[in-house]
Amino acid sequence: MADLIHPISIGSLSLKTNLFLAPLAGYTDKVYRSICLEKGAALAYTEMVSCEGVARDNDKTVMLMERGEGEENLAVQLFMPDADTALRSLENVMKYRPALIDINCGCPVPKVVKTGAGSALLKNPGTIRQIVKTIRDNVSVPVTIKIRTGWDVENLNYLKVADLAFEAGASAVCMHARTKSQLYMPTAHWELLKDLKDHFSDNVIIGSGDLFSAKDGLRMLQDAGVDAISYARGAIGNPFIFEQTMALSEGRSLVISTSDKVQAIMHHLLGLVDFLGENTACREMRKHVCAYLKGIPNSAKVRQSVTTALTVDQYKEALSALDYEK
Ligand SMILES: Cc1cc2nc3c(=O)[nH]c(=O)nc-3n(C[C@H](O)[C@H](O)[C@H](O)COP(=O)(O)O)c2cc1C
Repeated sequence: MADLIHPISIGSLSLKTNLFLAPLAGYTDKVYRSICLEKGAALAYTEMVSCEGVARDNDKTVMLMERGEGEENLAVQLFMPDADTALRSLENVMKYRPALIDINCGCPVPKVVKTGAGSALLKNPGTIRQIVKTIRDNVSVPVTIKIRTGWDVENLNYLKVADLAFEAGASAVCMHARTKSQLYMPTAHWELLKDLKDHFSDNVIIGSGDLFSAKDGLRMLQDAGVDAISYARGAIGNPFIFEQTMALSEGRSLVISTSDKVQAIMHHLLGLVDFLGENTACREMRKHVCAYLKGIPNSAKVRQSVTTALTVDQYKEALSALDYEK
């Protein structure tokens, strides 16, 4: 099992391991990326960033590309409908010195899809090729794409999309093993990840979909044979999943106590306070806390209290109600 986790190179970028934090809109800000990197992720992606917003230097958009503390290799994920929009954004993107640029070809959100970006690109593989080529021709960092298996089950075109992307110079393809129509259910089709890896054995393939535990991560590496994995929902409220995966690969089980979780919550909250100020940080932290506390006995009341907490002290008070022996 230990050999499932190994160093990996994506183009010119060398990484310590093949365990990544996926792009997650609303979650993978610079504070959470730093926390996951501290806990063993080798690479952490920004949430998807609008090229249109970056080209216009929109403050809220470019803020998503700020580097986190200790974030050596910043992976910026961009979304755009075409190569021209990508090109217009590049000068501003490069001001943030990304180590890698990833192109979102999988977002199913109607607001994004109707502009021709995200998973709409799966309907136009030629546009994906042009986008990859344009970015490759204009910047020196590795370019990768993140796709779904296709628009729907009648249109599974991941092999064609990956082929065009690699031909245009992509350094890796990450696939969420569901179609656009499947959104986040039912079970991800890891056999299609295996098929993708079998077809592109010399290229880097990153797997995504239904990675909720360290066991899932190792199983995907083993069964689908992908080169790297990208934790998404499984990493929300659980930055420990990276350490847990490394431990499990060595046959150890890393149990996280309530006290470890509370410490992690406070560290996360204080990081957000530095970044956003106390009031916004406390609001932003609510969804994270609910995820951190999932599975902790008698935590429902605490979850309820943090839904109105607006200060760090109120968080401390709410969390003090937990049973630390567990
Ligand atoms: C709340 C949320 C936000 C997401 N945001 C992004 C995003 O910005 N870019 C992207 O490529 N994928 C995004 N995804 C998809 C995930 O990166 C991942 O591919 C997907 O959740 C499948 O993995 P999982 O089943 O292990 O969660 C998002 C998923 C969720 C649940």
